[in-house]
Amino acid sequence: MASQVTAVRGPMIWFRGDPFLTSREDAFVHEGDGLLICENGRITASGDYTALRHRLPEGVVPAHYPDQMISAGFIDTHTHYVQTGIIAAFGSQLIDWLNHYTFVEEQRFSDAGYARRVASAFCDELLRNGTTTSLTFCAVYPQSVDALFEEASRRNMRIAAGKVLMDRNAPEGLLDTAQSGHDESKALLERWHGRGRNLYAITPRFAPTSTPAQLEAAGALWREHPEALMHTHVSENTGEISWVRSLFPERRGYLDVYDHYGLLGRRAVLAHGVHLTRSERDRCAETGTAVSHCPTSNLFLGSGLFHVHDAKDSRRPMHVGLGTDIGAGTSFSLLATMNEAYKVAELSNYPLDSVKAFFLATLGGAQAMGIEDEVGSLEAGHEADFVVLDPGATPLLARRTSRAESVEELLFVLAVMGDDRAVRAAYVAGALAHDRDAPSV
Ligand code: GUN
Ligand code: ZN
Repeated sequence: MASQVTAVRGPMIWFRGDPFLTSREDAFVHEGDGLLICENGRITASGDYTALRHRLPEGVVPAHYPDQMISAGFIDTHTHYVQTGIIAAFGSQLIDWLNHYTFVEEQRFSDAGYARRVASAFCDELLRNGTTTSLTFCAVYPQSVDALFEEASRRNMRIAAGKVLMDRNAPEGLLDTAQSGHDESKALLERWHGRGRNLYAITPRFAPTSTPAQLEAAGALWREHPEALMHTHVSENTGEISWVRSLFPERRGYLDVYDHYGLLGRRAVLAHGVHLTRSERDRCAETGTAVSHCPTSNLFLGSGLFHVHDAKDSRRPMHVGLGTDIGAGTSFSLLATMNEAYKVAELSNYPLDSVKAFFLATLGGAQAMGIEDEVGSLEAGHEADFVVLDPGATPLLARRTSRAESVEELLFVLAVMGDDRAVRAAYVAGALAHDRDAPSV
């Protein structure tokens, strides 16, 4: 079969390293007139257009985006596709919000047809926002997992997902058992992990909705399949933390519950971590466990302020990615999420610069999920998932970005003012998957 070559040209940025840990120069790449050559879904060359154009095969004309900014596709390290329908639910903090809205909506996913419709809308929304990889919760029903992976497969997207495990403290219709949860997860993992670009994540919802037996079974499954991800929530809300203490009095704290059952390590992604203690952060760093920083959700549910500079302290850095946490989060946009992350950091007097924010939304997220060799960067060898951002997307954005004096300033303005309107195009495995300006049919 002839190889499939595509190319794009324009200003571009990506990361080779972590700007929280190394100098900006070592971590960050900016090409004012860049060229990206993709073959069979992978980037085979990236760099300066003039230096690389001789590598373009005969007849391949790059798509040219001279006034845009090309970046690795955004990576959303924590979301719930099954909560797409309940964004912006009024009036409660975490536990009441779960009971009033979430547990009601998630029961609808026993209907495979409903799950398929939402999975399709969810993937559309990811791409409209320039998000090419997402680590997402499904519902407790295996058919809700099949629906998402089938949709992601159709679009060739790199999605990580898993069936929620819950065997207590939720409505009867949403409960599995330690045994059935284990067996269904195992079957789904063996069906989907590594099939195409799909990745399976073992997904206990959070400590309060799993018995010790269920957490034990989740740990056993992960030991049997260490190639899978592990995805849960931790230390989001102070009431939740007290509840965990009363349910697991023999453990040192919330994180220790997961530690005890073998649920920490590389490829474990814990959402929120707002109230993790210093020793818990140390333990995350030691084990390679990542936290997904979800600022729109933490503000919406009044959960608290995550201190990104503590998490990324270069003396013992943790892996951190950004998460939208739809439906407690209020936007699918990783640009909007960077905006809120900036404001949250400002509240503790830490100016989160745009280079670090874009790192968290791309390579940092990939590292959190343990897939940094596959996605998150435009460095040659990576899969060709990227986004084309439009600094002129709205009159005000155009007015403001026209005054930007550096690439850092341009990225900062895009992060603070941008949303789905600023996503001109998204490419998945080298193919155009979203074109904002294409006439709709
Ligand atoms: N903790 C347990 N379940 C959830 C959920 O669905 N959303 C959020 N934000 N936190 C949780
Ligand atoms: Zn969540």
